[in-house]
Formats: sequence, structure tokens, C-alpha cells
Amino acid sequence: MKGSTLIRAAAVAAAALAPLPGAAQDAPAEASAGAGGAEAAKPVADSDALAQMAASLPEGDAERGKAVAGQCRTCHGLNGIATMPQAPNIGAEQADYLERQLLAFRSGARVNEMMTVVARGLDDQEIADAASWFAAQRLVAMPPDGRTVPELCVACHGADGIAAIPEAPNLAGESAIYIEAQVKAFRNGQRADPLMSPVAMAMTPEELAEAAAFYGAVRLVPAP
Ligand code: HEC
Ligand code: HEC
Repeated sequence: MKGSTLIRAAAVAAAALAPLPGAAQDAPAEASAGAGGAEAAKPVADSDALAQMAASLPEGDAERGKAVAGQCRTCHGLNGIATMPQAPNIGAEQADYLERQLLAFRSGARVNEMMTVVARGLDDQEIADAASWFAAQRLVAMPPDGRTVPELCVACHGADGIAAIPEAPNLAGESAIYIEAQVKAFRNGQRADPLMSPVAMAMTPEELAEAAAFYGAVRLVPAP
């Protein structure tokens, strides 16, 4: 079981080594030209544009999304609790956030060797359906005792890592590796967001390490 899971993950990762737009943000036009697949759209880095694209997706259906989630479970678990530190928890996120990120990967605005390949294989309906499925998961976050809550983050990401505003994702139980990689992506412009980018720019390495350690120590489990 474990072995075959690993092999599938490796196969997806190997497939991801096909030529990809290396710096999609820097050269959107060239990047889309090299993107291959008929579906490859122009990279859209802009949050508003992604939100508009998400708003124009068809209505999602969680039951159909469960079938799509079969393609995600190796890395994200069927309920959206990640099975590897590089992959984030996506269960119980806002459907809208999940749609925006999948559209960002599919368009090349956000690049990851595993997710870019996965997202390019999804049509609009599958994106909406998968987002509905993962958004419908009921998970419980249990913050660690005796650790200082990261004050800089709680207004948007919550004191237990469950987002306090609709635009923000949950950070509950995300690995320090993932949190640090994403903050770095906001700092160097690979990801851009009017709320998060300025916070990422202003954060000291100590603040980042403390926040990553805190949210990484939150336990995220299926609701009873
Ligand atoms: C081979 C492993 C793998 C598979 C399979 C996979 N993912 Fe991912 N996913 C990742 C990794 C790794 C990341 C983090 C990418 C990054 O660092 O930017 C990610 C990120 C995401 C994100 C962004 C979440 C956030 O909080 O920003 C979404 C949404 C997502 N995946 C959805 C899916 C869906 C839906 C499927 C199935 C259709 C899927 N993934 C299949 C590995 C995988
Ligand atoms: C003013 C609100 C706000 C504050 C404060 C804030 N964030 Fe965010 N954060 C956001 C939003 C909004 C996003 C989603 C951006 C997007 O759509 O790409 C985000 C995304 C993230 C992500 C990516 C998560 C994922 O699943 O991919 C990480 C990691 C993150 N923030 C870490 C932090 C940390 C650590 C702090 C505190 C030091 C912090 N943020 C403070 C609003 C905020």
C-alpha cells in the first residue's frame, strides 16, 4: 500500500519534469506559449483576476468532487488532511480560495512541479467540484498548549489556524516547510496578494519561524 502510494507520487513528480514555464511571473506571454495543453491559459497573477475567474466557474458538486479527489488523495488525503509535508491541508478551506489556487496553478500564475501537472489536467467543472468536496470537509483544529499565539497573523489566519476572514486560507497543521516556502513566495513575488504580500515583506525571520512553529503544532483532525 505505502509503496504503491509512493510510486504514484513519484510518477506524478516525474511527469512534472516536462518543460514548464520556469518564471511565469516574469514572462507571461512566453510562458503560456510553452505551456503545451490546449487548456493552458495566460498566466494570471492578479488576485482580482483570479477571483473573477473563480466567480465564473460552474457550480461545484461535492459528490462529483469526491471522485475528482481520488486524484488528490496521495498527497492531500481524501478529507484534505495532507499526507506529506510539502503539500498543504486543503480540507475545510473556503471553496473560493481552493478554486483561485487551482486556477492559478492551471494558468501558470502559481508554479509547483506537482500541482502544475495536476491542475492542467482539470477542467472548470472538475475544479469547482473538487473545491466543493474539500470545502465540505468538517475538521477540528486543536492549538498547542503553552505556545505564544503569533499576534501578526491571528487577525486573518485565526488563533487556531482556522481563517478569520474569507479571503485567507487556514494554516492549522500546515508544516513549517510549507508555511516558510509560501511566505518566501509572497516575498519574492511568485505569489501576490494585496493582504498577504505586505505582511510577508514586513515579517522578520524570527516572526516567520515562530508563526510556522505555532501553526505547525496545531493538530487538525476530522470532526467527530
Ligand atoms: C503529487 C502530489 C499532489 C497531488 C496528487 C495533488 N496535489 Fe495539490 N498540492 C501539492 C503540493 C506539493 C502543493 C503545494 C504547492 C506549493 O508549494 O505551491 C499543493 C497545493 C495545492 C493547493 C493550494 C492550497 C493552498 O493552501 O494554497 C490546492 C488547492 C491543491 N493542491 C489542490 C489539489 C487538488 C484538488 C488535487 C487533486 C485534483 C491535488 N491538489 C493533487 C501536491 C499534490
Ligand atoms: C491582513 C490579513 C493577513 C495577515 C495579517 C496575514 N495573512 Fe497570511 N494570508 C492572507 C491571505 C488573504 C492569504 C491568501 C492569499 C492568496 O489568495 O494567495 C494568505 C496566505 C498565507 C499563506 C499561504 C497559505 C497557503 O495555504 O498556501 C501563508 C503561509 C501565510 N499567509 C502566512 C502568514 C503568516 C505566518 C502570518 C503572520 C506572520 C500571516 N500570514 C498574516 C492574509 C493575511
